[in-house]
Amino acid sequence: MLQINPNTKVVILTGAGISAESGIKTFRASGGLWENHAIEDVATPNAWMRDPNLVWNFYQGRRKQLLEVKPNPAHNALVDLENHLGNNFLLITQNVDDLHHRAGSKNVIHMHGELRLLRCEVCMNVFEMMDEEHLLGNYVACKLCENNRLRPHIVWFHETPLQLSEIYQKVENCDIFVTIGTSGHVYPAAGLISLAKSCGAKCIGVNLDTPSNYDEHDYFYQGKAGEILPDLVKKWIN
Ligand code: OAD
Repeated sequence: MLQINPNTKVVILTGAGISAESGIKTFRASGGLWENHAIEDVATPNAWMRDPNLVWNFYQGRRKQLLEVKPNPAHNALVDLENHLGNNFLLITQNVDDLHHRAGSKNVIHMHGELRLLRCEVCMNVFEMMDEEHLLGNYVACKLCENNRLRPHIVWFHETPLQLSEIYQKVENCDIFVTIGTSGHVYPAAGLISLAKSCGAKCIGVNLDTPSNYDEHDYFYQGKAGEILPDLVKKWIN
C-alpha cells in the first residue's frame, strides 16, 4: 500500500463522477445530453450568441440544483488529505459545481469554470453570484462597466480551460497523481495523467467504470468514489 507523508506532492483530478453520489448527473451517463439538451445548444460560445435565454436558463437550472445537493464522503476525504499535506496538495476539478468548496477544500483549480461565478463579456471581470441571483430568470448586469450583461464563467466547448500553465507546472512536479470520477474523454484534462506519468509520478484511479485512459494508471480502484475514497485516504495517511 502506497504511503503519503506530508512531503509527498499530490495532485488530484476530479470529474463528474465524484459528485454523482451527491445527486448531480454525470455528462456521459445521460446519452450525450445534459438535462435534455444537446451540448452544442447550451455549452458553446455559438449557443450563447444564438440563444442566450436558453443558455442562461440552462445554467440557472444547474445553479438551483446546487441549492439542493451537498458534498458526499468523497469530497470530505479530499479535505482530510489536504489537511495532511497542506501546500503539497492541489485539487484540479473539471466540475463546475461548488461541492469541493463547500466540503472545505482550499487549494482548488476549477479548470472548466464555476457555476457560482459570472464574467463580464466586455470588461472580463469575474463576479460571485449572490444566492438570490440563482433564482433570477433575467441576466445579471456588470457592476463595473455600464451594466453590460454577465455570462456564465464556464469553459464552453471550443474555449481554453483556465489556469493551464499552473496546472501543467504542478502536474509535472507531483509525486502522485490521482484521477477520480472522470471518463478520460475530454482533453486537455484527460492527457494530464500521461504528463504526470512521463515526469515520474505514480498514477492512481478511482472510478465506477474503466476510463478511456485506464492503462495509464499504476493502481486502479473500481467502484463509487464515496465508498472507496474515505478508506483509501485513511490508509494513505496513516
Ligand atoms: P463524464 O460524465 O464523462 O464521466 C464521469 C465518470 O464518472 C464516468 O467514467 C463514470 O463511470 C464515473 N462515475 C460515475 N459515478 C461515479 C461514482 N459514484 N464514483 C466514481 N466514479 C463515478 O464526466 P467527466 O469526465 O467529468 O466539460 O467529463 C469531463 C468533461 O466533459 C466535463 O468537465 C465537461 C464535459 O464535457 C466541459 O464542460 C468543458
